Amino acid sequence: MVQLVLDDVRAVHRNDPAAGSWLETLLCHTPLHAILLHRVAHWLRERLGLRLLSRYLSAINRFWTGVEIHPGARIGRGFFLDHGTGVVIGETAVIGDWCVMFHNVTLGGTGKYHGQRHPRLGDHVFVGTHAILLGPIQVGDHAKVGANAFVINHDVPAHSTVVGTPARIVKRDGFRTDEDLPRTIPPPGAVAVELEV
Ligand SMILES: CC(C)(COP(=O)(O)OP(=O)(O)OC[C@H]1O[C@@H](n2cnc3c(N)ncnc32)[C@H](O)[C@@H]1OP(=O)(O)O)[C@@H](O)C(=O)NCCC(=O)NCCS
Repeated sequence: MVQLVLDDVRAVHRNDPAAGSWLETLLCHTPLHAILLHRVAHWLRERLGLRLLSRYLSAINRFWTGVEIHPGARIGRGFFLDHGTGVVIGETAVIGDWCVMFHNVTLGGTGKYHGQRHPRLGDHVFVGTHAILLGPIQVGDHAKVGANAFVINHDVPAHSTVVGTPARIVKRDGFRTDEDLPRTIPPPGAVAVELEV
């Protein structure tokens, strides 16, 4: 447990240019509080079978940090959550080691499956803000999910970058999948504006 806490603090310093001292991180980094409280809730549920207490702690966690993580979710070492608010992580979600996730990300179910019904993230996965990943999908090691991407019922290969709604692969193993793809996708309904130079 001590090693897990140390790795979570290290992850903040590794990923957040705004991070201050270790004391400041421990006292003020609310997403870190969310992860640490989740680790306690998960331990209460998995090791001691205290399901009600673990759910209660998870509810307090949500109230305190704005991050909703079901106590059943499995989160690996060195998880970095930036900002945190609005993140929802479902009961059977799995997050590998040294993953990075921004605010308002959803790792949710589709309502169609029982048992394993939430996404599984490999190691070193990056998930941008407002990304929505639904269903028992697998996101491979070192994959990047762009901000606002919507991924449902399709796995994301390792070492790939996916963007858009629905998400598609724009880069894999360091190479663009389609050179003709525009490098930015305007949101639906957006109107181009001519800038005066
Ligand atoms: C999509 C994202 C993950 C790419 O990150 P990256 O480190 O640049 O990833 P990669 O190098 O693997 O891929 C970049 C490539 O994808 C392309 N790409 C990115 N977004 C794209 C899009 N919407 N449409 C098409 N191509 C896109 C880039 O043009 C680039 O191509 P290039 O290398 O040929 O120039 C990143 O842009 C993103 O969305 N980050 C989220 C950050 C965030 O949530 N911040 C919140 C702060 S509060």
